[in-house]
Parts: sequence; C-alpha cells; structure tokens
Amino acid sequence: MEKTLVLIKPDGVERGLVGQILSVYERKCLRICKMKLIQADENLAKKHYEEHKDKPFFKELVDYLVSGKLVAMIIEGESAISIVRKENGDKDPLKADCATIRGMYANSRTKNLVHASDSLEAAKREISLWFPEV
Ligand code: CDP
Ligand code: MG
Repeated sequence: MEKTLVLIKPDGVERGLVGQILSVYERKCLRICKMKLIQADENLAKKHYEEHKDKPFFKELVDYLVSGKLVAMIIEGESAISIVRKENGDKDPLKADCATIRGMYANSRTKNLVHASDSLEAAKREISLWFPEV
C-alpha cells in the first residue's frame, strides 16, 4: 500500500475545515495511519518547502505554514499519492475543479488549505520530516 504525507495547513484548522477535509480522503477508501495537531517551527517549514527556496513566494509560504497549528498526517491506500493530489485540486483557485478541496474551499494561491506529497520520493522524505519516529 502506498503512503503519502498530507498537511491541513493553518487556514484549514483556523476555518474549522479539518473534519470536512478528512472526510474527502476517508470516503475515497484512504486510511489515516498517523495524525497530529502541531505548530511547525520555521526550520521544519523551510525544510518541508525546500524545493521552493528560490521562489519569490518562499518567505510568504513559510510564514503561512508557521502561522498557526496544522494537522500533519500519513495517509495510506491504493494509489494514495495521486488520489490525494487529485482530491486536493489545483493550487490556482481559478483552475481548481469545484469538486476538489481547494476548488470548494480555497480562493488564494498561497492559503490553499492542504499539502500532499507529489511523488514516492517526496512522500518518503516528507514522512520522515514530519514523523521522524516512523
Ligand atoms: O501545493 P502544490 O504541490 O499543489 O503546489 P506547489 O507548486 O508545490 O507550491 C507549494 C505551495 O506554495 C502551494 O501549495 C501554495 O501554498 C504556495 N504557492 C504560492 O504561495 N504562490 C505560488 N505562485 C505558487 C505556490
Ligand atoms: Mg508541491
């Protein structure tokens, strides 16, 4: 079974959307293996978004990730990596399909509620970053 790292970012927690977001994954027969509500520090946020360190939006992105508590989880299931990315939807609110989490609830390119690993390698790296004990 495939595993992926998912974050419900601080706007999702702040807006009280944790339950709705989890239900999207659960109804798709994906299983939550590990889950925690935590406040990420800057070091963790920077490592998580390392691939974007040279982008103009990097600082805003890191500030956003540490702006409040977030939910980090490992989700498992058949094709979990692609299915979760599909359910999350496009990061551009103008492109996100209305049936996706971002399409339904997000209207910002930065504050877009969710993160999910985009490949097997990213999933491995991100799971060990957020759940070093695994
Ligand atoms: O999250 P996803 O993998 O779909 O997108 P990404 O291209 O890896 O970008 C990571 C995150 O950076 C996005 O989810 C947004 O929160 C943020 N971002 C932004 O603030 N401005 C952009 N122009 C692009 C991305
Ligand atoms: Mg990404």
